[in-house]
Amino acid sequence: MRMTDIIQKKRDGGALSQEEIAFFIQGYTAGQIPDYQAAALLMAIWYRGMDPAETAWLTACMARSGEAVDLSAIPGVKVDKHSTGGVGDKTTLVVAPLVAACGVPVAKMSGRGLGFTGGTIDKLESIPGLRTDFDREAFFAIVRQAGLAVIGQSGQLAAADKKLYALRDVTCTVDSLPLIASSIMSKKLAAGADAIVLDVKTGSGAFMKTLEDSIRLARTMVEIGEHNGRPTAALVTDMDRPLGRAVGNALEVAEAAATLRGCGPEDLTGLSLRLAAEMLGAAGRGRPADCLAAARRALESGEGFARLSRMVQAQGGDPRALEDPARLPQAALVRPVDSPQSGWLAHLDTAACGRAAMVLGAGRERKEDPVDPAAGLVFCKKPGDRVEAGEPLALLYTNRPQAVEEAGALLLGAAAFASQPPAQPPLVLARVTKEGVERF
Ligand code: URA
Repeated sequence: MRMTDIIQKKRDGGALSQEEIAFFIQGYTAGQIPDYQAAALLMAIWYRGMDPAETAWLTACMARSGEAVDLSAIPGVKVDKHSTGGVGDKTTLVVAPLVAACGVPVAKMSGRGLGFTGGTIDKLESIPGLRTDFDREAFFAIVRQAGLAVIGQSGQLAAADKKLYALRDVTCTVDSLPLIASSIMSKKLAAGADAIVLDVKTGSGAFMKTLEDSIRLARTMVEIGEHNGRPTAALVTDMDRPLGRAVGNALEVAEAAATLRGCGPEDLTGLSLRLAAEMLGAAGRGRPADCLAAARRALESGEGFARLSRMVQAQGGDPRALEDPARLPQAALVRPVDSPQSGWLAHLDTAACGRAAMVLGAGRERKEDPVDPAAGLVFCKKPGDRVEAGEPLALLYTNRPQAVEEAGALLLGAAAFASQPPAQPPLVLARVTKEGVERF
C-alpha cells in the first residue's frame, strides 16, 4: 500500500477502506509516514469529508493507537463528560462534583487549553499545590477516597491524536467535522468510561459556528460512541455568549466554587445542572426529572461543594482557596473597560472575548506557551443587560501592562448595543441521542 495512492483517492473524493485508514494511522503514529504526506491527506479530508463508516473506523484506529485505560477497578458505572471547548466553560469543575455527590464516581482525564478555549487542567492547576500528574494507581485511589479525580491526559492516550492534532493546528485543518469527531471520541473511548455525555458548543466562540453543523457533529460523535458500545448523549449549547462571567484560570475556579455554593451565574448553574442530570441518567439513576432534582439537591445541600474540596485536598491542593479567592493567584493589574454608550448589551463576540483573555495571558498561542493563572477577565455586563455610558462592561486582570490596551480594544470591538432589550436564545439548543435530535 502506498500513501500517495491514499492521498490521491481522498483528494478525488473516494471513500477510504479500513485497510487504508489503518495503514495511515499505524504508519503515522510509528513515524513511518512523514508530516508532509499526513498534512496532504488531512487537507484532502478537510475538503472531501468522510462518510460515517470512514469516520467510525478512523476513530477506532486512533483509539487503539496508544494506551487505553481500564476503569473496571473502580466500582459503579463511570460516566465521562466532554465539552468541545468554549470561552468561560468551567462546567467540569461544577458538574463532576455534583455527579460524585450523587454517588456516581467520576474518573476523568482532561486536557490543557489551546488558543482561546480553556482547558480544565490549566484551571485546576491554578489552585495552590494541586497536582494533576498522577499514575494510574494513585488516580484510582483518589477516586475511591474522594469520589472523583480529574487528572491530565497522558500523551499516550490515543497517541495518534496527539501527533495529528499538532499537525492540524499548523495546517488549518482543525475545523473538519470527521477530524474533530474522531479526535474527541478516540480519546473518550481510550479513557475507558462506560458512558459519555458531550457538550457540543455552537456559535462564534466554538469550532462549529452554526447550529446545523454542531448538530451534525453531535450526531456523528453519538453514533461513534454507540457503535463502540458506550451509550452517548450530547447537548448542543450556545457559545455565542461567554459562559458565566469569568474567563481565565483562577478566575474560573473562583466562579465554579461560588456556583457550587449556590451563588454562581444563572447560565453556568443551569447548564451544569443539565449536564449533571445527563450524566446521572447515563449512570442509570432514573428518569430525567429525577436526575435533575438529584443534581439540584447536591448543589443546594452543599454536598457538591464538599466533594470539590475533598478532591482538591486529595490532589494536593489547598481547599481553602475555594472559599477564599484571595488564596488563588492574583493579577497585579485590574482595569475596567467602560461602555462607550448607553443601551442594552445585545451581543458579545465570544471569539474576540476569548482572544482578549489570551492577550492578557490566560491562554496559549502555541502548545508550549505557559499560561498566567491569574490573568483573564470578568464581565460586569452580559448580553441582555442594561448598561449606561461609562459603566464598566468588564474588568481585565493581567500581569502584562502592555496588554491592557489591546485587550480593551478587543472587548469594545466585541460588544454590540441595542436600543431595546434583545431576545436571548436558550442556552441548551438541542439534545442528541441515538433516538434522534430534540430541539429546544
Ligand atoms: N478537541 C479535540 O480534542 N479535538 C479536536 O479536534 C477539537 C477539539
